Amino acid sequence: MILVTGGAGFIGANFVLDWLAHSDEPVVNLDLLTYAGNRENLAALANDPRHIFVHGDIGDATLLAQLLETHQPRAVLNFAAESHVDRSIHAPEEFIQTNVVGTFRLLEAVRAYWSKLDGDARNAFRLLHVSTDEVYGSLGKDAPAFSETHRYEPNSPYSASKAASDHLVRAYHHTYGLPVLTTNCSNNYGPFHFPEKLIPLMIVNALADKALPVYGDGQQIRDWLYVKDHCSAIRRVLEAGTIGEVYNVGGWNEKPNLDIVHTVCALLDELRARADGKSYAEQITYVTDRPGHDRRYAIDASKIERELGWKPAETFDTGIRKTIAWYLDNQAWVTNVQSGAYREWVEKNYAERAA
Ligand code: NAD
Ligand code: DAU
Repeated sequence: MILVTGGAGFIGANFVLDWLAHSDEPVVNLDLLTYAGNRENLAALANDPRHIFVHGDIGDATLLAQLLETHQPRAVLNFAAESHVDRSIHAPEEFIQTNVVGTFRLLEAVRAYWSKLDGDARNAFRLLHVSTDEVYGSLGKDAPAFSETHRYEPNSPYSASKAASDHLVRAYHHTYGLPVLTTNCSNNYGPFHFPEKLIPLMIVNALADKALPVYGDGQQIRDWLYVKDHCSAIRRVLEAGTIGEVYNVGGWNEKPNLDIVHTVCALLDELRARADGKSYAEQITYVTDRPGHDRRYAIDASKIERELGWKPAETFDTGIRKTIAWYLDNQAWVTNVQSGAYREWVEKNYAERAA
């Protein structure tokens, strides 16, 4: 079996669902169920004996040791993290705890477990660490996309904490020989994306007749990948990646934020027109920029394509259409995640960004 951390969040839940759609190998899913973790994302597995959910913290060394000992996984995949840049600006402490200290505790527990394995089990074992393109910092307009050897230049507390976790993972391979793999992926979108992030926030706000808050001039560029393509890349790296290597994952899909928001509005105009016949684009408002906002990310995915034969299945056009259809079909999920805590966050983040 495999042990996944953070498998009740956006990417982790998509990964667990896809894993069990492709294989019968069981998954132990360790998740703290922070505001971003949601067991409803895994509702399809409620009666599936291949999925074992454990409510707990990757920072809990005793729990980790016990889980590894009991389940004897052949691989550990680390998705657990605090993931939202704006929250890291308001309250960085949790990012250090989970992303840095939590990853360290996980590495220590895995090292102790792996060092006691022998023979085939030891050779086959892998720790796959899921990371982000944000560790590389911000690109100039015409600079080449991030390759795996681009220097680390994190600019937010979130990206700095992820960079620290990447360095720890690297060091555990270099120093102890731990068989690690690291993936650095660009911006994901798709089902179960928590509506604090750009694309789901715009969909949810548009349908609720609220403002669509674009930070600064909206010309910041992100490189978008449909979440299920990220999941297939992770499966491929786990299967065939070279120990100790880093693989950048992306969809060659650079777009300015404002274009993304207009695309969301145009698709909603087509699929769920406003009652007054006007475009959802009328709801766009420009608000105060994110402090330290990275201007451009772009992933050079040629290594994973060349060495592992991975390619995304979706274009942005097909992926965004599927995403919007999913949100329209899953209004109950949207309502349920908009708890009091969610409303407090939205109030805090946007109240101080005067339009
Ligand atoms: P998310 O915030 O949606 O989910 C994170 C999950 O981790 C939640 O289920 C949460 O409950 C859990 N968690 C948090 N702290 C924990 C702890 N201490 N112990 C156990 N579980 C804990 O995040 P996401 O967008 O799904 O991102 C998953 C991973 O992928 C993160 O490591 C993130 O840095 C990375 N990543 C995300 C993107 C993206 O676009 N979302 C892109 C590249 C990489
Ligand atoms: O690049 C990978 C990263 O992508 C992941 O590591 C992070 O976990 C993930 O959250 C994401 O980070 P971003 O900061 O790029 O994502 P976010 O959805 O928060 O913002 C995307 C862009 O949209 C960014 O330039 C900020 C802008 N934005 C965001 C929000 C929430 C707005 O203009 N308005 C908004 O209300």
